[in-house]
Amino acid sequence: MLIVLRFFDVGHNGRMNLVDYLRISLIDRCNFQCQYCMPEGSDLEYVKRQDWLTQTELLTLIQLVFIPAGFTRFRLTGGEPLLRPDVVEIVRSIAALPETQDLSMTTNGFLLADLAQALYDAGLRRLNLSLDSLNPQTFEQIVGGRLRWHRVWEGILAAHRVGFSPLKLNVVVIPGVNDHEVLDLAALSIGQEWHVRFIEFMPIGNADLFADRGWIPSAELRQRIADRWGLSAEASVVGNGPADVFQIPGAKGTLGFISQMSECFCDRCNRMRLSADGWLRPCLLNEVGQLNLRTALRSGVPLLELQQQVQQLITLKPEINYKQRDSGTLGTYSRTMSQIGG
Ligand code: GTP
Ligand code: 5AD
Ligand code: SF4
Repeated sequence: MLIVLRFFDVGHNGRMNLVDYLRISLIDRCNFQCQYCMPEGSDLEYVKRQDWLTQTELLTLIQLVFIPAGFTRFRLTGGEPLLRPDVVEIVRSIAALPETQDLSMTTNGFLLADLAQALYDAGLRRLNLSLDSLNPQTFEQIVGGRLRWHRVWEGILAAHRVGFSPLKLNVVVIPGVNDHEVLDLAALSIGQEWHVRFIEFMPIGNADLFADRGWIPSAELRQRIADRWGLSAEASVVGNGPADVFQIPGAKGTLGFISQMSECFCDRCNRMRLSADGWLRPCLLNEVGQLNLRTALRSGVPLLELQQQVQQLITLKPEINYKQRDSGTLGTYSRTMSQIGG
């Protein structure tokens, strides 16, 4: 029997941090071309289908490498995870593991209306969706294509109807593009238990847009919202991510602020990322320390050895987290979130 060892990431502040959250990218492709992520015309090289981790490989890694290394919370991401043909089966198999304490998904919602019930029946209970605008034209200006807003909105309503909870709506705030909608988007949290999260635009994916538009600090958004309704910090919602949670007094849902530009939350980092082709990445903004688990698995490296390598990587994580930030080399980052695994 495998012994469960738990490793901790000791941040710069000396705090012990449990690294137990794995973000699993199922596919690096996406059916949207969001301006802030992979704008139209981006020349991305996609992972070949034969290089995707298969469902069996993924399950083997989760059960015999990640769970023994202490991971119990899993999020399925992409690209767009609903493009993966076997997504429902993957959900079912991870949800069925007794060690899984939390399973969630981040999606753009375009394919959700048809899949919400099947995903719920397979054991998925919580979803984070992107909703960058309430105005269909602005939305399509951001995500590309046509007639997309209504389908996403139907997806959100379907997820609500089916019973996903908490249901979180992610907004990347881009100055001059959608920041004038912050109050309207925040208002979605009042009447129903929807959790709206405002994300500071990062220089990942589209450096030109970032240079052109910049970003808005979460504190400024909170002020706007507080001026309108008041804002309480006495709020919480189930989650493993870096959002700071607030609430409009009397609202059913909450407001989250993900402030990676104005606040460094590396010292509370609890996660690693597994890409669709099996690279395990200890830090979003850093190429250091990556392990190619697909190649190792396919060439027959014993699973116990892989588990030990993952555990070793967890112990190295605090130093990796800060490498680029401390050396001041963290400039714009050319890989997109879709390639890294949102
Ligand atoms: P919950 O478990 O619901 O809290 O999920 P989450 O917030 O971890 O997941 P989600 O996929 O919704 O992440 C929202 C956004 O937070 C991402 O799209 C990123 O913009 C940002 N984010 C998530 N993880 C990291 C990270 O490790 N570093 C940085 N800089 N940003 C992150
Ligand atoms: N800045 C902030 N968040 C980003 N995402 C992608 N690119 C960026 C960026 N440049 C996040 C968004 C989106 C998810 C897929 O990835 O939250 O909803
Ligand atoms: Fe963790 Fe790296 Fe993200 Fe910081 S940037 S929170 S260290 S993954």
